[in-house]
Amino acid sequence: MQEFTYRGPSLTAESVLLREAAAQFGTPLYVYSAHSLQDHCRSIESAFGGYPHLSCYAVKANANRELLRLIGAEGFGADVGSLGELRIALAAGVEPAKITFSGVGKRDDEITAGLRAGIYAFNVESPEEITVLDQIASREGTRARILLRVNLDIDAGGHRYVATSLRQNKFGVQSDRALEVLRWARGLPSVEVRGIHSHIGSQITQAETFLKAAGSLMALVTQLSAAGIPVPDLDFGGGFGVQYRGYLAHPGLPSEEPEELNLSAATLIKTVLPLLRETRCRLSIQPGRSVVAHAGALLVKVLYRKQTEDKLFIVVDGGMNDLLRPSLYNAHHQIVPLELDGRGFEQADVVGPLCESGDFLALNRTIPRVERGEYLAVMCTGAYGYVLSSNYNARPRAAEVLIDGSSMRLIRKRETVEQLYEG
Ligand code: LLP
Repeated sequence: MQEFTYRGPSLTAESVLLREAAAQFGTPLYVYSAHSLQDHCRSIESAFGGYPHLSCYAVKANANRELLRLIGAEGFGADVGSLGELRIALAAGVEPAKITFSGVGKRDDEITAGLRAGIYAFNVESPEEITVLDQIASREGTRARILLRVNLDIDAGGHRYVATSLRQNKFGVQSDRALEVLRWARGLPSVEVRGIHSHIGSQITQAETFLKAAGSLMALVTQLSAAGIPVPDLDFGGGFGVQYRGYLAHPGLPSEEPEELNLSAATLIKTVLPLLRETRCRLSIQPGRSVVAHAGALLVKVLYRKQTEDKLFIVVDGGMNDLLRPSLYNAHHQIVPLELDGRGFEQADVVGPLCESGDFLALNRTIPRVERGEYLAVMCTGAYGYVLSSNYNARPRAAEVLIDGSSMRLIRKRETVEQLYEG
């Protein structure tokens, strides 16, 4: 499962020396391991133990078409959140019957495109949206399958920006209104009510939180069925957390205490399955991070060691424009050298080249000593890495490379400066 490892002093992904990837494709560079991606998909699939289900990979976590092709080949469908994601999923060969469309602000053209593509279902967020969906479906001469997203008012912990199931969040309909909304929706001519959906947050590592959600959903399915509303489908969403701290353990690296509770997506799914299967619904999930996070690393090059009176800055060629998570969520990503050579550890801020103090990859971090021209890998950046990158400071987006065994393949070219100014 762990495809990034040191062979002697050199960091490798599968059979590839990462310093060779950096030298060949330049930095900043996102590298992905095909085997890691496949292993994570397989482990999630096996957690269902034959129970009828559909895993729809949340494309927002990483929308690279080639990665999506691999994920699709593992039997996954896709959950999309925009027209762009829908088109990428279709281009990657994901069957429309395995695509769901989620999101609080679907535009009319996005709904139309989803209907025309024949996607499985829309996860709807409000009666207002259902009305629009009904009108567009009627105009298109079709029926839209819907799952109502319910807001379970559960505090899933984690950063407040990624909490989605608190009453005050913009997502879903309060669960005590679900019956009334679905009863009304069942009367609409161009809508087919298929069931309910929830997604409670992201980077959740505690089984109790998921158990709470599963319990509430079960109670709701029971209530709806008793009121004569069949619920064939239950979409449990994503949010399964992954290990970030101490992902790589090696005597040549400072040790990092892993997150306290660290249950894999497969374990979390196995924990809630006994509850969810009692509903007898067809289950679907929407994992994003747990599929791709560990499959990716961001390679950067050390530009300067800048020593001030107060501290040491390691200035690298990738910043918040390439990886926003540390700046936006104070997220922790382990940072390791591509070559270990026992020069000891030092404490530093690892910072990018942008004109913002918020542009950092790590603050006050103990890392092995590195010199100008050497490379570092920012680990576990396969999810919400490249997709959140930007052109701030007119910096072209990084390239992406897929590693499979001993082969390396460019799966997205580095953006050029010309692309930035050509209108
Ligand atoms: N389904 C829905 C409706 C979602 O909104 C999301 C993520 C997922 C599934 C996938 O969740 P996952 O399994 O990846 O946790 N940018 C943040 C994460 C934002 C998550 C947004 N929604 C980060 O970098 O931590």
